[in-house]
Amino acid sequence: MNKKDIYILAIETSCDETSMAVVKNGNDVIALSIYTQIDTHKLYGGVVPEIASRMHTEKITLVLEDVLNKANMAVSDMDAIAVTYAPGLIGSLMVGIECAKTLSLIYNKPLIKVNHIAGHIYANNLTNKIIFPTLALVVSGGHTDLVLMKDNYDFKVLGSTLDDAIGEAYDKVARVLKEKYPGGPNIERLALQGKNSYNLPIPMQDDSYNFSFSGLKSSVINEVNKCKMQNKKINKKDLACSFQTAAITSIINKCEKAINDLKINNFIIAGGVSANKFLREKLILLCDKYNVNLSMPDFIYCTDNAAMIGAAAYPLYLKNIFSNIEDVQPESRTPLF
Ligand code: KG4
Ligand code: ZN
Repeated sequence: MNKKDIYILAIETSCDETSMAVVKNGNDVIALSIYTQIDTHKLYGGVVPEIASRMHTEKITLVLEDVLNKANMAVSDMDAIAVTYAPGLIGSLMVGIECAKTLSLIYNKPLIKVNHIAGHIYANNLTNKIIFPTLALVVSGGHTDLVLMKDNYDFKVLGSTLDDAIGEAYDKVARVLKEKYPGGPNIERLALQGKNSYNLPIPMQDDSYNFSFSGLKSSVINEVNKCKMQNKKINKKDLACSFQTAAITSIINKCEKAINDLKINNFIIAGGVSANKFLREKLILLCDKYNVNLSMPDFIYCTDNAAMIGAAAYPLYLKNIFSNIEDVQPESRTPLF
């Protein structure tokens, strides 16, 4: 029997991207629209929450119109409306949530609330299909976690960061090196042109699956201060390369330990830092070494976008996990795991 195709209209406004997508059967992106506010927040060195929510309000109807035009579909053609409810900036989340609720009410469509980090994980289904059991490395602005997934929405956290998340560390190092927001891609660009000449210490060379990046960040700050005191110019490219090498080596070591210990054959990565080419190259080498099947989202699906929210909503749709309007509220910190 041919199963009916399921179309989900997904909405993501948790930070500084206003995005909507139409996703078919959780893996086929029919249309994607992303309006990024980066150029505005760049002027302030980071996301300004009040400006972010105002800009979402200004753009959300235009993004809706754009995604429906691209899909050549109407809201009435959808099987459900999915929206990010957490974690994120409350004012930003509210704009997407109110839009989702309004569409759900007017068109009588079921509402699915999606955790943003689940979105990053399920972005993998837009490129490959997640094969369970799998190890998942979640590397984002707020997360650095190694997670074992035996099935959909079945998360066992093996280890997490004890302090800063990896994306946060990239962003803070960028600030120290006077690089513009968003820091991650700028540090990566600098690192590509530099050498690992500072030989910074690799964090957490212990037996756990945990991570830590604040000590490494302090080492970068120390190097910058040393140069200032000696009236020397810092070699930003080399320092960025040395930071990136130490940080990513630490992550790869933990991944290698988990692959060895758990003998899992599948590995996925998720979150904004999964766009980092150095990390991707090292993971390819690692997974080749152990003959592990590696899935990485396409670059466009690594950073915030609504297609990943549509992908993450699909397993919930199949299980009839819908929400009442009053149960969908923005939450700034609600963890997935
Ligand atoms: O996953 P994400 O949207 O954040 C959360 O949902 O928490 O990712 C944003 C983070 C930022 O810290 C940004 O600097 C980092 O991902 N990032 C990168 C790269 N692209 C984005 N970090 C390193 N290299 C990149 N190419
Ligand atoms: Zn994100």
